[in-house]
Amino acid sequence: MQPEIPNMPGAVPPASQTAAVPARDTVGGISGGSSWSGRFDEPVSELVKRYTASVDFDKRLAEYDIQGSLAHARMLAGCGILSAQDLADIERGMGQILQEVQSGAFTWRLDLEDVHLNIERRLTELVGDAGKRLHTGRSRNDQVATDVRLWLRASIDAIDGALRAMQSALLGLADQHVETAMPGFTHLQVAQPVSFAHHLMAYFEMLARDRERFADCRKRVNRLPLGAAALAGTSFPIDRERVARELGFDAVCANSLDAVSDRDFAIEFCAAASLTMTHLSRFSEELILWMSPRFGFIDLADRFCTGSSIMPQKKNPDVPELVRGKVGRVNGHLVALLTLMKGQPLAYNKDNQEDKEPLFDTVDTLLMTLTIYADMVGGIRVKPDAMREALKQGFATATDLADYLVCKGVPFRDAHEAVARAVRHAEQAGCDLPDLPLADLQAFSPSIGNDVYAVLTVEGSMASRSHVGGTAPSAVRAALAAARSRI
Ligand code: ARG
Repeated sequence: MQPEIPNMPGAVPPASQTAAVPARDTVGGISGGSSWSGRFDEPVSELVKRYTASVDFDKRLAEYDIQGSLAHARMLAGCGILSAQDLADIERGMGQILQEVQSGAFTWRLDLEDVHLNIERRLTELVGDAGKRLHTGRSRNDQVATDVRLWLRASIDAIDGALRAMQSALLGLADQHVETAMPGFTHLQVAQPVSFAHHLMAYFEMLARDRERFADCRKRVNRLPLGAAALAGTSFPIDRERVARELGFDAVCANSLDAVSDRDFAIEFCAAASLTMTHLSRFSEELILWMSPRFGFIDLADRFCTGSSIMPQKKNPDVPELVRGKVGRVNGHLVALLTLMKGQPLAYNKDNQEDKEPLFDTVDTLLMTLTIYADMVGGIRVKPDAMREALKQGFATATDLADYLVCKGVPFRDAHEAVARAVRHAEQAGCDLPDLPLADLQAFSPSIGNDVYAVLTVEGSMASRSHVGGTAPSAVRAALAAARSRI
């Protein structure tokens, strides 16, 4: 007896986009004509069918599945394993299937389990025996690994474009704020004055490393599993190099067992994605802080914020908050894939079917986040006066006074102590260091002269850090020019 299928919340109804399960299919044996069904005495239970099917999510691999099948078929024909007529039929059928998939006319059948069996069955409906010959020398195990790699390669290329757009948005904003001074923080306490452009460019560098990581991961994604068949390779005289060339892979996977079973390429992709999301969550945290009235450094464009249903005055930075929150799911996907892989014996196991949803959602989340983010950065309204005001509050030029004393021959540790006492004095007097009269300053060190005031200004402090990687406007301008040529 079939157990009753529980009506799970949000569950895909068995026959919404998927057609009803035919009771008996003549192509195979029982059970809707599954490709392996001749071996079985009874059909798979409805619940198990739903539990094991992946078509609801892996159908998004359809175009890559077709691409892979065409390359495989052409190779088979080239090697004399398939006739020219069969190849022509397969190419014609696949052309139609591609159109059906793209137009949404394709009928996905849950009883055909996954994207691969759905497409193969449709091909056979359209072109007959040639469709049944397509799977010669191939298994779904090397087929799915190929599809996922093709899909991920395209996704990495899209992500690289989105990262580049985000870098270019940062550059655009930084360009306007080379001279804008803001407090740089350590421990979220005012530390030293920095150029706002310099601060923004810190994120540019993080994203540049993210792009390097994805590019490096792409090298290992871009290897061809096809030819590994189920696990041991195939007895047909195939030409794997030819398939690799046609599909744009850099090389073939060198070991058939490894080719069908490992998903390390997807795991390292997710690790790179986690780092990018981590970088964006750091930026998000800053935007959220800066937009609060306590800072008031920036305003985000209204289209990235929402109001409150009860407090009429609220304008909340929802987008950066959501980005911060979405890091949780992306990190979760990384852990899911690591856990999925852990302890799997060679070679392919059905566990690997669970690789897709985390991977797909990681790509979707990252791409959408980056796209929105680039637009949001372009719409940041900077409030230089508020930044300047904040700089007056934390003795941001105290280090400059210590450096000044060192230049006058005072050992750094003594200079540090003298300035610490001066800061304490200014704090009690309720003013900033440059507001103290010369006589007061000289009480802390006789080496202080009238030239000290130039050093204590925000502009003086920034301008003095003019080495590569420093915050001086001259250095930042050079960094911006170099960055522009890098992307
Ligand atoms: N849908 C399967 C997956 O995603 C395809 C490979 C199935 N192979 C098998 N031997 N059952 O992994």
